[in-house]
Amino acid sequence: MSPYELTRTLPEDATDAALRADVLHGLTQSPKSLPPKWFYDARGSELFEEITALDEYYPTRAEREILLDRAPEIAAATGARTLVELGSGSSEKTRHLLDALPLLHSYVPVDVSGSALTGAADTLLAERPDLHVHALIADFTKELTLPDTPGPRLVAFLGGTIGNLLPDERADFLASVRAMLVPGDALLLGTDLVKDESVLVRAYDDASGVTAAFNKNVLAVVDRELGADFDPADFDHVALWDSGRRWIEMRLRARRDLTVKIPELDLVVTFEAGEEMRTEVSAKFTQTTVRSELAGAGMELAHWWTDEAGRFALSLATAV
Ligand code: SAH
Ligand code: AVI
Repeated sequence: MSPYELTRTLPEDATDAALRADVLHGLTQSPKSLPPKWFYDARGSELFEEITALDEYYPTRAEREILLDRAPEIAAATGARTLVELGSGSSEKTRHLLDALPLLHSYVPVDVSGSALTGAADTLLAERPDLHVHALIADFTKELTLPDTPGPRLVAFLGGTIGNLLPDERADFLASVRAMLVPGDALLLGTDLVKDESVLVRAYDDASGVTAAFNKNVLAVVDRELGADFDPADFDHVALWDSGRRWIEMRLRARRDLTVKIPELDLVVTFEAGEEMRTEVSAKFTQTTVRSELAGAGMELAHWWTDEAGRFALSLATAV
């Protein structure tokens, strides 16, 4: 018997239907786009872990620094008995939090990536056999059914992943998080902060090309799952800073005129040489924008912590 519970609230065919709908919608729009959640098959999750170790990619190190400094304060402020983590990935940084929560009974990692979840749960339970781990394969933008575990509950959304949602999606998402909270519960939110453009662009266009491989991995997912014939070599990785919207945008730019077949969708898509398809936004925040988006969803900023260099922030919020 597995030492932890793994619940799939996304049946394989629902994942398949969601991918089909997203690809059909995104590739028949102008400009074309694909949602970033499809980066994370087993290979994409591995590539993301490689990104977190790059010199240029500061968010993971900055957030770890805050967690190491502030975990005791987070524990004292929340008294959490259940930690729900959305988009938990490898749960690597989360261990600093798990270790600091003396009353913790259950850990509920939620991710679309089954491989990341099982890897994380296996590693964690080797270190913390006492912990109740209920891993949930689910899309955190859809309604979540959480296991019945003791409160207070701390809902963590780390890494700056909230920045990968578009503004409307963020508002809906924060409203659904607010609906999960009962009095005494809290949200711990990681956000990357607005900073110098050159630092931001380097973080999303690293010298060794790992982020480029991560970006192109979405094409491999569409090829494998929908029988498409995208050749990643036909595209260049693009990362640019949109100062008006305050987000980094990743795109894939066609190197030549292309015709791509997607048999499972009965679709043929053409790209003109130089045409760019958006694959991710990564929004950057300030204390003012975080406070106001939380307030818009009925939550109040109780604590704001940054790393020493002021690159990244962790916010603790409660329901109003
Ligand atoms: N929290 C980790 C991982 C961040 S990578 C960290 O801070 O390092 C983003 C994670 O969110 C990936 O593991 C990806 O699979 C997951 N993810 C992205 N979109 C998702 C969605 N809509 N629902 C659930 N998980 C999602
Ligand atoms: C998961 N997410 C917060 C990452 C980010 O920084 O937006 C994904 C990523 N994209 C490129 N590099 C990392």
